[in-house]
Amino acid sequence: MTVNELRSKYLEFFRQRGHRVIPSVSLVPENDPTTLFVSSGMQPLLPYFLGIPHPMGSRVTNSQKSLRTQDIEEVGDNRHTTFFEMLGNWSFGDYFKAEQLPWFFEFLTDVVGLDPARLYVTTFIGDESLGIPRDTGSAEIWKKLFSSKGVEAKDVALGSEENGGTKGMQGGRIFYYDAKKNWWSRAGAPSLMPAGEPGGPDSEVFYDFDPTGVMHDVKFGKECHPNCDCGRFMEIGNSVFMEYIKKEDGSFEPLPNKNVDFGGGLERIAAAREGGGDVFLLDAFTPLISVLEKAGTKKYKEATKSFRVVLDHIRAATFMLGDGVTPSNTERGYIARRLIRRAVRHVDVLGAPQGTLALLATAVIEYFKEHYPELKSAETIIQENINIEEDKFRKTLTQGMREFEKLSKEGPLRGEDAFTLFTTFGFPFEVTEELAKERGLAFDSAGFKQKMEEHQKLSRAGAAQKFAGGLADHSEQTVRYHTTHHILLKALQVVLGPEVHQRGSNITSERLRIDFSYPTKMTPEQKAEVEKIVNEKIAEKLPVMRTVMPKGEAEKFGAEHEFGVKYPEMVSVYSVGPKGAVEGNPQIESAFSIEFCGGPHVNNTQEIGDNGRIFKIQKEEAVASGVRRIKAVLV
Ligand code: SER
Repeated sequence: MTVNELRSKYLEFFRQRGHRVIPSVSLVPENDPTTLFVSSGMQPLLPYFLGIPHPMGSRVTNSQKSLRTQDIEEVGDNRHTTFFEMLGNWSFGDYFKAEQLPWFFEFLTDVVGLDPARLYVTTFIGDESLGIPRDTGSAEIWKKLFSSKGVEAKDVALGSEENGGTKGMQGGRIFYYDAKKNWWSRAGAPSLMPAGEPGGPDSEVFYDFDPTGVMHDVKFGKECHPNCDCGRFMEIGNSVFMEYIKKEDGSFEPLPNKNVDFGGGLERIAAAREGGGDVFLLDAFTPLISVLEKAGTKKYKEATKSFRVVLDHIRAATFMLGDGVTPSNTERGYIARRLIRRAVRHVDVLGAPQGTLALLATAVIEYFKEHYPELKSAETIIQENINIEEDKFRKTLTQGMREFEKLSKEGPLRGEDAFTLFTTFGFPFEVTEELAKERGLAFDSAGFKQKMEEHQKLSRAGAAQKFAGGLADHSEQTVRYHTTHHILLKALQVVLGPEVHQRGSNITSERLRIDFSYPTKMTPEQKAEVEKIVNEKIAEKLPVMRTVMPKGEAEKFGAEHEFGVKYPEMVSVYSVGPKGAVEGNPQIESAFSIEFCGGPHVNNTQEIGDNGRIFKIQKEEAVASGVRRIKAVLV
């Protein structure tokens, strides 16, 4: 079964169980302040867990493009990839544990054909201080499922990962762990969640690649257990029972609905099926291995780590560029740059010539083009960007290497040295770090990171690792900014012309930021006019309405949509105004602003102006050719 076939089988399995198949959204998140890339399937679906109805109904399924930048350094082993597809099935207040666990088990054992005796599961041990009980319900369901396949399934309470390493398997099949392991929210464990954030206990399924247990390495703990990092067990899917929301006082309350957020690693499930456990040997990667073996002097077996780095990085870069990211020195562009430049270094290790990366990108596009047609449409841009970036890096690589040699003779590498290599010679952090490691040279990576944050304002990349999510929070202030953002976009179109469209956005509880297409600097008069319109709309106390309608109809109304984003057939749109709009009669045709959007928003623009708040543009500047950026506040 190929990776492409496995994806289709999964979507079909859930389609047959009443789910609507929805497309993957762009890797570049919409209305997103806290994270550079979509890193899980649930992230773009967040509003629907909070009670807003999904336009496609209460059961949807998808395969979401995801990117985890915190895994970049782990790339090189057999399972971590920067880009991955997360299979998802979602219940928004519809089915719960009693359907979810049996369905996933059936999919794994009957459709994929995994041996049930190779599956191990984990569930939440409970937390008295939070008033959240042990998830015995899930354990009972798992027991029945294993028993139906003739597999004994004893439950064992391990609690912490450390305890797991001391006590080990104890003949168990179902393991209870604490919130560090069996609780999911975008921010992590309950204590790390901000108020307003939803989360819940989860139940993970692991595949055992080594039933004999000989693979275990005591460096990871005396005994092996499902959450051990030795490589014996691989997590292949996680059913999150999203049923709580954190309150201001730190307590947890049930959400209006009990939801299911399931995320499964497409390639990890495929690797379990193949049995070898190396995702890079799946058919999605083998054409790339052939290209690289032919172009260079080494075989996959001889230089596995460099192969994996190149394959992973070029694939992630291809998908990122396909979603409109351009290599640069900041934010998303910097991640693309890091990936491409690190791939160049490893292509060199493999003895392959300049231009090999672009060939590999073609192989990526060929494999994925049916499910992700946006890759094919962006093929030329992807190729150009990769070639330009490779060329730029090569031009400074020789000089940079000379500088590196010089610095390395002077002793341990300081944060400052790495920073010079970065700013003057374009050496991304990992390249310097890897070179230092190769030479056995101490490297003050913390010092470098600090310098980067100071000088490049890259702290957002760090924040993204701490908190991988959609809107920063759902505080009232963030929601006010969100609605203001819609009004601002429309005001810009009124003042600058209808060809103005959104190219990016970023909203926190402190301010809003919008990137939009416009060729020149705005004049002070234009800025004043935009401010005036936004403040008028706030003062007019306009109702803000959400309507679910077919995509084509929303387009007819001229609803704004995000550049490069794919939408399902049914969409949710938010309209601001007109004055008499009410539920059931939103009068969209006479609205001031209409946008494709999942929310949340204020109910009336008067909430934006509470306490006499006024909208003000703080800054207007260029971010790229033809793209301007406005930062604005409510004061
Ligand atoms: N939200 C969970 C995860 O990302 C399951 O989808 O792992």
